[in-house]
Amino acid sequence: MRFAHLHLVALLFLCPAAGWSGLPENARGSGENAGHWQPDPMHEYWDPGTYHQPETGPMAGRFQGEECLECHTVVTPGIVRDWRESRHAKSAPPVLCPACHGEDHQKLRLPTPRTCGECHPRRVAQMEEEKKYGFPGHALAMERAVDSKHFADKPKAEVASCLQCHSVATKCDSCHTRHRFDPAEARRPEACLTCHSGPPHPDDEAYFASPHGQRYLQEGSTWDWSRPLRKGHYPTPTCAYCHMKDGNHQVADKAVWKFGIREINPRTAENTIKRKRWLSTCADCHPPEVARLFFRELDTERRQAWGKLYGVEGLLKALRGEALLRPSARERPPYPMDLMARLFPRERIGFYEGQASAFYNVGAIERDYFEMWYFDNLGAFKGMAHGAKEMSRRFHERLDAEARAIAAKARHLREGKGAGTAEVDLAPIWMDGEYTRFNRDNN
Ligand code: HEC
Ligand code: HEC
Ligand code: HEC
Ligand code: HEC
Ligand code: HEC
Ligand code: HEC
Ligand code: HEC
Ligand code: HEC
Repeated sequence: MRFAHLHLVALLFLCPAAGWSGLPENARGSGENAGHWQPDPMHEYWDPGTYHQPETGPMAGRFQGEECLECHTVVTPGIVRDWRESRHAKSAPPVLCPACHGEDHQKLRLPTPRTCGECHPRRVAQMEEEKKYGFPGHALAMERAVDSKHFADKPKAEVASCLQCHSVATKCDSCHTRHRFDPAEARRPEACLTCHSGPPHPDDEAYFASPHGQRYLQEGSTWDWSRPLRKGHYPTPTCAYCHMKDGNHQVADKAVWKFGIREINPRTAENTIKRKRWLSTCADCHPPEVARLFFRELDTERRQAWGKLYGVEGLLKALRGEALLRPSARERPPYPMDLMARLFPRERIGFYEGQASAFYNVGAIERDYFEMWYFDNLGAFKGMAHGAKEMSRRFHERLDAEARAIAAKARHLREGKGAGTAEVDLAPIWMDGEYTRFNRDNN
C-alpha cells in the first residue's frame, strides 16, 4: 500500500503539467452586473461555490482519507500539520480531507458554508438568519459587493481587494482559519481586523482606543482563549464577545445604527428590541444604568452628527437651486453604468440621493461633502459606539472644519468668484479618457 503511494508521488513530481485548471477565458462575473466584469483567479478561493474549477492535472482517482493524508504529508505538509492539530483530526471518527473536499481528485471542491453546514447546521442557519435584518451583514456581503455599480465599473486595480473581505459570506474560514479551524483564534479581535479596519470602518482604531481594548492590549496575552465567549470567562469583551454573544454566528440582530451611513430612529419597536439585546450583553459585566447611559450618549452623538450633515446638505441644495454647482448634472460626464443618470441628469446630493459611487464625477465642493458623510461621520460613529470618545471628538472636529470650509466655498461661489468654472474638467476622467478606456479593456 504504502509503496504504491510513494510511487504515485514520484510520478507526480515528474509531471510538470500539474496545476490548477484555472478559470475559463470567458468566465463571467456574478450578480446584477455579471455581464460587466470578469472574475480573477483568486475568485476561485473567495467564492468557491461559484468559481472553483476542479483540478484536472495528472492526479486522478478516488482516495480514502488515509490516502489523502499520506500523499499530502509530502505535497502540502503545512496543511496536514494544521489539520492534525485541529479538533477535526481528534474527533471520533476524525473529519478527514474528503469530508470537505470530496474523494475524486479530478472533481475536488473547496468547501462553501453549505459544506460545513452538513455537520454544523446551527452555525450556518444563524449566519443565514442575518439576512432578515438586511445589510450590512456577513451573509449578504458577497452580493452587496458584486452588485455595487462601482465594483463593476472601476478599473480592476481599484477594486481587486473588495472580495477578499466580502468573501466572509461565501466561505467559513474568515475568522477561524483553515485547517486548524480554531475557535480560540476567532475569539480574538485580530480575527476581525483583517477586514474591519481603515476608513470607512475604523473598528480597530475604535476598539483599541476604548477601555475594553486597552485592557486587552495590556493583558490579553495571558487570557485563556480556549474558553467560550460567555459570562464570567473574560474580563473585558472582544469584538466577537459583543457582536457574536454566546457564539451566535450572526452579527446583525443588535445593530441599530448599522454602518452609520443613514439617519435612523433608534426608538422604533424593532430597534427597541435590538437595544435590549445590547443591554443584556453589557449586563454580563456592568449594572444596567451604565449601558443605558452609554446608548443615550451614542444616540445624542448621532443626532449631532446628522445635524451637521443636514446643514451642509441644505447649503448644497440651495447652491444647486441657484445654478452654482459646477459642473452641473448636465455638464458632467454621467456615471458610466448609470443609465438613468444619462437619460435624466440630476445632481444627487448626499446619501439619500445617490450612492457613494456617484461621487467621483462631481466638483470639489460636492466631493468635500462626500468625505464628510462617508469618512468623518463614520469615524465619529465608530468611535462613540465603542466607547472611544476622544476618537469620536476628533472626527467631530473634522466635521466642523469641513462644514466651515464648505460654507466658505459657497460664499465664494455666491460672490461670483468661482462661478463659470468647473473646478475640475471631469470629462476626460470618465467617458472618453484613459481611465475609462483602461476600465473597458481590463474589467
Ligand atoms: C498521490 C498523491 C495525492 C493524493 C493521494 C491526493 N492528493 Fe490532493 N493533491 C496532490 C497534489 C500533487 C496536488 C497539487 C496539484 C497541483 O498543484 O496541481 C493536490 C491538490 C489538492 C487540492 C487542491 C486542488 C484545488 O483544486 O484547489 C486539494 C483540495 C486536494 N489535493 C485534496 C485531496 C484530497 C481530499 C485527497 C483524498 C481524497 C487527495 N487530495 C489525495 C496529490 C495528492
Ligand atoms: C473542515 C473542512 C476541511 C477539511 C477537513 C480539510 N480542508 Fe482543505 N480546505 C478547507 C477550506 C475551507 C479551504 C479554503 C477554501 C477557500 O479558500 O475557498 C481549504 C483549502 C485546501 C487546499 C487549497 C490550497 C490552499 O491554498 O489552501 C488544499 C490543498 C487543501 N485544502 C487540502 C486539504 C487536505 C490535504 C486535507 C486533509 C488533511 C484537508 N484539506 C482537509 C477545508 C477543509
Ligand atoms: C463531516 C462533518 C464535518 C464537516 C463537513 C465539518 N465539520 Fe467542523 N467539526 C466536526 C466535528 C465532528 C467537530 C468536533 C465537534 C466536537 O468535538 O464537539 C467539529 C469541530 C469544528 C470546530 C470547533 C473546533 C474546536 O477546536 O473546538 C470548528 C470551528 C469547525 N468544526 C468548523 C468547521 C468548518 C468551518 C467547516 C467547513 C469548512 C467544518 N467544520 C466542516 C465535523 C465537521
Ligand atoms: C473576511 C472579512 C471579514 C471578517 C474576518 C469579519 N468581517 Fe464583519 N463584515 C465584513 C463585511 C464585508 C461586512 C459588510 C458586508 C456588507 O456589505 O453588507 C461586515 C459586517 C459586519 C458587521 C455589521 C453588521 C450590521 O448589521 O451592521 C458586524 C457587526 C461585523 N461584521 C462584525 C464582525 C466581527 C465581530 C468579526 C470578527 C469576529 C468580523 N466581523 C469578521 C467582513 C468581515
Ligand atoms: C478591508 C476589507 C474591505 C474591503 C477591501 C472592502 N470592503 Fe466593503 N465593507 C467592509 C466592511 C467591514 C464593511 C461593513 C462596515 C460596517 O458595517 O461598519 C463594508 C461595507 C460595504 C458596503 C456597505 C454595506 C452595504 O451592504 O451596503 C458596501 C456596498 C461595500 N462594503 C462594498 C465594497 C466594495 C465594492 C469594495 C471594493 C471597492 C469593498 N467593499 C471593499 C470591508 C471591506
Ligand atoms: C465573523 C467570524 C466568524 C465567521 C465568519 C465564522 N465563525 Fe465560527 N466561530 C467564530 C467564533 C468567535 C467562535 C467561538 C464562539 C464561542 O467562543 O462561543 C466560532 C466557533 C465556531 C464553531 C465551534 C463550536 C461552536 O459551535 O461554538 C463552529 C463549529 C463554527 N464556528 C462553525 C462555523 C461555520 C460553519 C461558519 C460558516 C458558516 C463559521 N463558523 C464562520 C467566528 C466566526
Ligand atoms: C463592548 C462591546 C463591543 C465591542 C468589544 C466591539 N463592539 Fe462593535 N459595536 C458595539 C456597539 C454597541 C455598536 C453600535 C451598535 C448599534 O448601532 O446599535 C457597535 C458597532 C459596530 C459595527 C457597526 C454595525 C453595528 O452593529 O452597528 C461594526 C462593524 C462593529 N461594531 C465591529 C466591531 C469590531 C470589528 C470590533 C473589534 C475590533 C468591535 N466591534 C468591538 C459594541 C462593541
Ligand atoms: C466581559 C465584561 C464586559 C462587557 C461584556 C462589557 N464591558 Fe464595559 N468594561 C468592562 C471592564 C472590565 C471595564 C474597565 C476597563 C478598564 O480596566 O479600564 C469596562 C469599561 C467600560 C466603560 C468605561 C467606564 C469607565 O469607568 O471609564 C464603559 C463606558 C463601558 N465599559 C461600557 C460598556 C458597554 C456599553 C458594554 C456593552 C455594549 C460593555 N461595556 C460591555 C467589562 C465589560
